[in-house]
Amino acid sequence: MHRQPLKSSFASDCTLPSPVWVTMEPPGLLSVVVVFVGLLGTFVEGLTPRVSFPIGTPGRSLSRFNSSDVRNTTTLLLSDDGDTLFVGARDFVLSLDVGQEDIVVKSKLDWSPSNNEMNDCFMKGKKKADCHNFIRVLQFLNSTHMYACGTFAFSPRCTYINHETFSFVTSPSGKPEEGRGRCPYDPYQRNSAITVDGELYTGTVADYMGNRPVISRHLSEGSHIDLKLDDTLGWLEDPTFISSSFVPSEEKIYFFFSEVGREYDFIDKFTVSRIAQVCTSDVGGQRTLQKRWTTFAKAQLLCKSDNELPYNILQDIVTLPPPEGTPVDETLFFGIFTSQWSVNSGQSVVCAFRLGDIKAVFGGNYKVLNRDTLRWSTRVQEKVANPGVCGLHNASDNTLRFVKENFLAEDSVHPARRRLTLVSPDRRYTHLAAQRVQASGGRNYTVLFLLTEAGYLHKAVLLDDGPHIIEEVQVFEQPQPIKSVLLSISKGVVFVGSSEGVVRVPVSNCSYYGSCAECVLARDPFCAWDHSNKVCAPTISIQDQAGQDVERGSVQGQCTSPIMPRSRSGPEKFKLVSVSLKEVVRLQCPEASRLARREWVGPDRLLSPELYLQPEDGSLQFLATADTLGQYRCISMENDYEQALAVYQVKQKSSPTPETAPPSETPTQRLLPTTPADSALTLPPTVAMPEPAASATTRQASRNFTYWVKQMGETGAESRGEEALLLERGSTYLKELVVVSMLLAGCVFLLVAIGLYRVRQRCRNKTAPQDSSPGRDSEQGDPHEQEPLRDGQSPCSNGKQNGQAAPNGQANGVMCNGTPKGSNGHLPNTPT
Ligand SMILES: *[C@@H]1O[C@H](CO)[C@@H](O)[C@H](O)[C@H]1NC(C)=O
Ligand SMILES: *[C@@H]1O[C@H](CO)[C@@H](O)[C@H](O)[C@H]1NC(C)=O
Ligand SMILES: *[C@@H]1O[C@H](CO)[C@@H](O)[C@H](O)[C@H]1NC(C)=O
Ligand SMILES: *[C@@H]1O[C@H](CO)[C@@H](O)[C@H](O)[C@H]1NC(C)=O
Repeated sequence: MHRQPLKSSFASDCTLPSPVWVTMEPPGLLSVVVVFVGLLGTFVEGLTPRVSFPIGTPGRSLSRFNSSDVRNTTTLLLSDDGDTLFVGARDFVLSLDVGQEDIVVKSKLDWSPSNNEMNDCFMKGKKKADCHNFIRVLQFLNSTHMYACGTFAFSPRCTYINHETFSFVTSPSGKPEEGRGRCPYDPYQRNSAITVDGELYTGTVADYMGNRPVISRHLSEGSHIDLKLDDTLGWLEDPTFISSSFVPSEEKIYFFFSEVGREYDFIDKFTVSRIAQVCTSDVGGQRTLQKRWTTFAKAQLLCKSDNELPYNILQDIVTLPPPEGTPVDETLFFGIFTSQWSVNSGQSVVCAFRLGDIKAVFGGNYKVLNRDTLRWSTRVQEKVANPGVCGLHNASDNTLRFVKENFLAEDSVHPARRRLTLVSPDRRYTHLAAQRVQASGGRNYTVLFLLTEAGYLHKAVLLDDGPHIIEEVQVFEQPQPIKSVLLSISKGVVFVGSSEGVVRVPVSNCSYYGSCAECVLARDPFCAWDHSNKVCAPTISIQDQAGQDVERGSVQGQCTSPIMPRSRSGPEKFKLVSVSLKEVVRLQCPEASRLARREWVGPDRLLSPELYLQPEDGSLQFLATADTLGQYRCISMENDYEQALAVYQVKQKSSPTPETAPPSETPTQRLLPTTPADSALTLPPTVAMPEPAASATTRQASRNFTYWVKQMGETGAESRGEEALLLERGSTYLKELVVVSMLLAGCVFLLVAIGLYRVRQRCRNKTAPQDSSPGRDSEQGDPHEQEPLRDGQSPCSNGKQNGQAAPNGQANGVMCNGTPKGSNGHLPNTPT
């Protein structure tokens, strides 16, 4: 990190004389910048999604709705039963059946402006593409009706829709409903809307130019009258409305937005994030504040940790109700924040705010507005009333004048435990959904679904040690200006709406994890290993004790029972690779997960960098010589769990390779069966490991091993995931081999010990630059060493027939491992 440029770019962005910062909260910001830069380093690690599913990957098949004539499907509303999704799109309101495998259109309401209306809009200088009706409000009013509002060619309109018959209903007045103050004019302007008891509470701009923001209530009846903000005192300062939430116990609606922070008047356009509140019981004042809110108050949402710049721009925020039996004050609001400053422009942060803390801030002191200068101070004044309390309709003019002028809480709302929930150094998150999931032990975990700018949905679980990103699923291909995320907890799906259509993403696909180890390593609270059925299954569907460790992801202890894993492609084999001496050999290793470390073990155990090249993609390259022939195993290590991902036997081409004769038994070869077919990990089942090269011998060896593992399993001595090691059951004739097996066990322990030692060494050496490796030089140095690679054949395509094949790095990787794009080390571009 370069401190100098960061500091200066920060200063220039804010066009700010440095001493002024001292007055701002937090104090001494310039020194804070330096501290912050230091902290950056700690954020950069971690938060890599463990598994990635680009569009089209089989492990995560999604259902989509898209249609050439319906665009901008971004406003989503789900029916109570979760089977119908109403979509506000461009010129259409849709009703989609989402209760089945495929999403189908049930009906479609055309609500487009006439040609004249569109021309008028165009003549006023707006882009033709924006002169449509973009539906931006879609809310249920009661059991039969819903209410929709659209931009309607920069002349917003609303309408009633009967959601049972899915048809327009003429409004009680007979005229088209005015959309002003309910829906923005400009389709790119954000707004918020929520209905409570048939009344519509909105936050939007209420004019064509987009500079009259208002928070208002509509559709009120009787003595409950429509209300709006008094705009004489600047209750809002150029806000961007994000969302709103109703908290029934408080009888309050909370609005979330960001706006210009006038209290920081020494900075030019300093953005702050806000929470504002109004009471649903509000009916305005009698003389003062007639038809205006008497309960409006706002406070700053300060998403920052100590000694750090605030992440000041709110992107999205959702409500997570407290667990059953917990006080309502434990309600959490999870928000995504980004920063105004280029120092941390690519980052986004999640902060959680407690309702209890919000209530305390609104119940505290308020800043004082100087009526003449419209500047804020915190000077102490006589407290005439408590701003923000409900039930002021009969209050005196004096009281109402006081609350009218004192609407900005002095304190800011700090994140729960004064900590950032999640810091993403390189992804810009834009939308989120939150859910509490009960893991198999009964403990609740918060799971966040975070949509990145680039179109990936990240599923993160919040652990004691911080967040863990279980997976990422690509939902759209092009960055989208307007998008939305809607979670259906009852159906276990997330809907993502964008201009490309609506995508339904199941919250999990447990069956993707083929072994107990994989299931546990995923640390997905939605999934657990079902010991009786030997599948990774939804946690709620498992009755008995299940294999799961969300907190630590420790396979040991969850998968130790010697149960045969679901067999995919028969017993495990190694791959025979026949080479000529002096040829460059390339061995591929599939990627188990992005969090796993891959390690090669060769015939002479320590693969000296003078002879071996280990590129970033996890493969191994070396020159075939008499010394480098032998067996190579690629080991994956994740979270203290180790398993072999690939095993190769490198032989000299001329030497005969009998198919039935047992290979000379070296201790290394005996280890073969430790690579179970099921260890293919993230690979889909069909592309697990290649077909047998020397089946007879392997099978026999595997039986030996099975027997040994059983023995060890009973004594509880071996802990490397015996279950995964067990390949075949029922071998009974090998009692004589106990002695041999014990010898074998000795070898295993020796190898593990050496392996661990090497891991340590490697960790220490990790900082050494790759380019200095002499191995690379030797590879590049001799051009004809590369030659044999070209006419080589894949060991997979014919290795089975004759046990002979020339190595070919590429074909090897593609055909043998057959890994999808996402898991063979050539990972697709991840969103930035
Ligand atoms: C879940 O994963 C399995 C294994 O990769 C795959 O066969 C299946 O189609 C996936 N299911 C869904 C709904 O994505
Ligand atoms: C509507 O979708 C188109 C792409 O189909 C996109 O270019 C445009 O920006 C979207 N408009 C809005 C308001 O989302
Ligand atoms: C729902 O609201 C609409 C519009 O206000 C009204 O006409 C209708 O009678 C209401 N239906 C019920 C069941 O309350
Ligand atoms: C407001 O005051 C009037 C007269 O003082 C009273 O009749 C009415 O019930 C009061 N309203 C409320 C909601 O307290």
